[in-house]
Amino acid sequence: MEQIVVSGGRHLHGKVPISGSKNGTLPLLAAALLVEGETVIENVPDIHDVRTMLEMLEALGVRTEFTAPGVLRIDATDLRSTEAPYHLVRKMRGSFYVAGPLLARTGHAKVPLPGGCVIGARPVDFHIQGFKALGAEVTEKGGIMKARAPRLRGARIYLDPRLRSVGATINIMLAATLADGTTTIESASREPEVVACAEFLRECGANLSGVGSSTLVIRGVERLHGCRFRSIPDRMEAGTFMYATAVAGGEVVLENVRPDHLTSVIETLQAAGVTIGYGDDWIRVQAEGRPEAVDIMTAPYPGFPTDLQPNHGVAASIARGTSIIEETIFDARFNYTDELARMGANIKVVGRAAIVKGVPRLSGAPVEATDIRAGAALVLAGLAAEGRTEINGAEFIDRGYERFVEKLRSLGGEILRCETRGAPCLV
Ligand code: UD1
Repeated sequence: MEQIVVSGGRHLHGKVPISGSKNGTLPLLAAALLVEGETVIENVPDIHDVRTMLEMLEALGVRTEFTAPGVLRIDATDLRSTEAPYHLVRKMRGSFYVAGPLLARTGHAKVPLPGGCVIGARPVDFHIQGFKALGAEVTEKGGIMKARAPRLRGARIYLDPRLRSVGATINIMLAATLADGTTTIESASREPEVVACAEFLRECGANLSGVGSSTLVIRGVERLHGCRFRSIPDRMEAGTFMYATAVAGGEVVLENVRPDHLTSVIETLQAAGVTIGYGDDWIRVQAEGRPEAVDIMTAPYPGFPTDLQPNHGVAASIARGTSIIEETIFDARFNYTDELARMGANIKVVGRAAIVKGVPRLSGAPVEATDIRAGAALVLAGLAAEGRTEINGAEFIDRGYERFVEKLRSLGGEILRCETRGAPCLV
């Protein structure tokens, strides 16, 4: 168990570079399986989830190599296996993305079902429904999905509009790229990560239209060729640094960002009294004193992202007034509120809503990170709190944030990483 220790009360000042997107890069790594040849992906973040996906690709016989920091060369010409190892799928649900490309390229995929997750039920039934619609025979036995289709056939696929699954949209899009004929995905997700994946596929020779809309049309092609593509900036990391500044106070400029991917977050923070300026690829955040209470409801893009909901929970816990936070995507995404309550927050969770009465300040305490986003939110709570906060489970944060502690330190945060509970801290 690794620990992050924060001494709260310091304002943040300076510039912080935003890394490539975790959720944007993972689909590209899976998509590279479709390509007979070499793909080069730039702006790849050095985070644990990317390393897990690379292990997965290597296990399937794909050659991967970093030729410079953040520049990854992938060669899937000699794909050897169509079986995804369980120990990698259980580490990270995103690795289920290999299913669509394996099926499309080889006609076979044997991928363990990823199972539940601490933020709530996360089935893959929509992914499987899509593979079946494309003509695959799919069985699920012993926790393993086996899919077979000598050749996938284009189809009209209707996803549940109430849930709008990012993962299913991407997996089905990947599979349909090499299918015979045209596939239409209705109620497709419009997240920037879906759009980036579609643009990558286009660069490699796929034929897609309706990209960025809720009706995605994919005309199957014979094969994809190698291409070069730059992964989009991580809007969740950017949002996390924006909220960090909002709760700790100070003035921070985020570099290498896409403000147009963060409209709902910018508007929410402005409503909370935070001053925000931005240009094409930067965002400046200035905050002083307690934020104002703002109600939010998570929603598919362009709505407020569920991954940043815990950060808003931290801001709400020290806001002037009462905020209502509604979570509509994942049913157990309020796990972090028990930990915040240990730091003095006044939060009551009723079903899918949290009622947060702002208190003047939080106080440091030992707390437990239970997932990537909850972990980051607890670090933010530590920055805003009085005294020392110990966040156990730092390895969750490493899954999705590149050099999180170092970046916050460079902004003046008093934050350290400890190797194990009770052991001396590493700087
Ligand atoms: C992705 C992101 C995650 C983000 C989420 C929602 C990655 C690696 N992860 O997760 O950070 O929080 O989008 O924006 O990109 N569902 C089903 N059946 C399915 C698939 C999904 O019922 O087959 C449900 C889920 O339980 C959830 C909702 O649909 O309630 C949305 O999930 P989905 O968009 O698929 O999330 P992920 O792609 O897993």
